[in-house]
Amino acid sequence: MSHRIAVIPGDGIGKEVMPEGLRALEAAAARFSINLNLEHFDFASCDYYLEHGQMLPDDWFEQLKDADAIFYGAVGWPDTVPDHVSLWGSLLQFRRRFDQYVNLRPCKLLPGIKSPLADRKPGDIDFYVVRENTEGEYSSVGGKMFEGTDREVVIQETVMTRTGVDRVLKYAYELAQSRPRKKLTSATKSNGIAITMPWWDERVVAMSGSYPEVSVDKFHIDILTANFVMHPDWFDVVVASNLFGDILSDLGPACTGTIGVAPSANINPEGTFPSLFEPVHGSAPDIFGKGIANPIGQIWSAAMMLEHLGHPEAGQAIVDAFEAVLAEGDEAILTPDVGGHGTTESLGRAIAERITG
Ligand code: NAD
Ligand code: IPM
Ligand code: MN
Repeated sequence: MSHRIAVIPGDGIGKEVMPEGLRALEAAAARFSINLNLEHFDFASCDYYLEHGQMLPDDWFEQLKDADAIFYGAVGWPDTVPDHVSLWGSLLQFRRRFDQYVNLRPCKLLPGIKSPLADRKPGDIDFYVVRENTEGEYSSVGGKMFEGTDREVVIQETVMTRTGVDRVLKYAYELAQSRPRKKLTSATKSNGIAITMPWWDERVVAMSGSYPEVSVDKFHIDILTANFVMHPDWFDVVVASNLFGDILSDLGPACTGTIGVAPSANINPEGTFPSLFEPVHGSAPDIFGKGIANPIGQIWSAAMMLEHLGHPEAGQAIVDAFEAVLAEGDEAILTPDVGGHGTTESLGRAIAERITG
């Protein structure tokens, strides 16, 4: 059996880290005799937009819907295309149309990387952010009135549905139950956002009876961000709405030294549509072209994709490989964000060689 994978590098450093993601993916596939059928697409990038006037071809859904997974780099190039145009025209369409309602984002302090938090070592930070990925604050309900006048009004509604919230909570509860600490933390802002957020809290409580082994706590998002910095060891599985999950999944990896290593899985758990795997970071215009982007976010996303496709041993081999290369700490190989003076390619090649064994 062959897995059909849609490969979309996107913009900026997406184009630099994707080759290293593929190098690791292909090394793991060769070692574990996994048959991959990689199909490359140039759409869902700002270059495509400049040529075609839209981010995606009209038949993008048809072209991608039968893929077993989508492997994405990063998208956005604000100098040429406004971010809301490029993102709503690509990544956010994929998440919504393919009903990828779970955005799973591990956050782990890796060996050899120095946390900016004093005295934190590997093992102290090891949790998942489970981010609701199709509704919430990322809604297209709203509008503008009286544009250009003093009476201008802009409205954008938060939309939460019982189906949408319950299904991501269920995923988070089950993930917590499967982990040794069995701990779930819910992020809300129920003191200030007084309709949607207390209702989210109620849904968390309503489901807790089905998972008696899972201990549940909740924090308002403001103090939760402080606790990520002060007490990252408290967290095991953190579940949050779309916007809060977005913010927490940059803050968490920052506490582990760099957002360059953070991966994500945009999952359609039912398998009706393809799931999408991509680093947490964006196109990083400030370092694009220098060849110094850390490729581990892309490589770790490849590991999550292999696990999702039913090859956990291949995924684990990738994780073991980048952990080993990081632990060795060869500054000539490592990228600058993790204390080295190597390149995207030197780090990617070292990891692929380690996967091959
Ligand atoms: P960013 O993640 O692109 O960059 C933030 C900072 O982190 C920059 O200083 C960058 O150099 C650094 N960084 C990011 N990835 C790195 C890596 N692999 N190695 C080393 N350093 C890395 O965020 P931004 O600057 O806010 O956004 C730039 C563009 O990317 C915008 O168009 C934005 O909308 C888009 N974006 C896309 C995604 C995505 O595709 N999923 C995610 C975030 C931002
Ligand atoms: C992410 C990104 C996207 C998001 C942006 C680029 C729309 O920040 O994947 O975390 O907010 O979801
Ligand atoms: Mn983000």
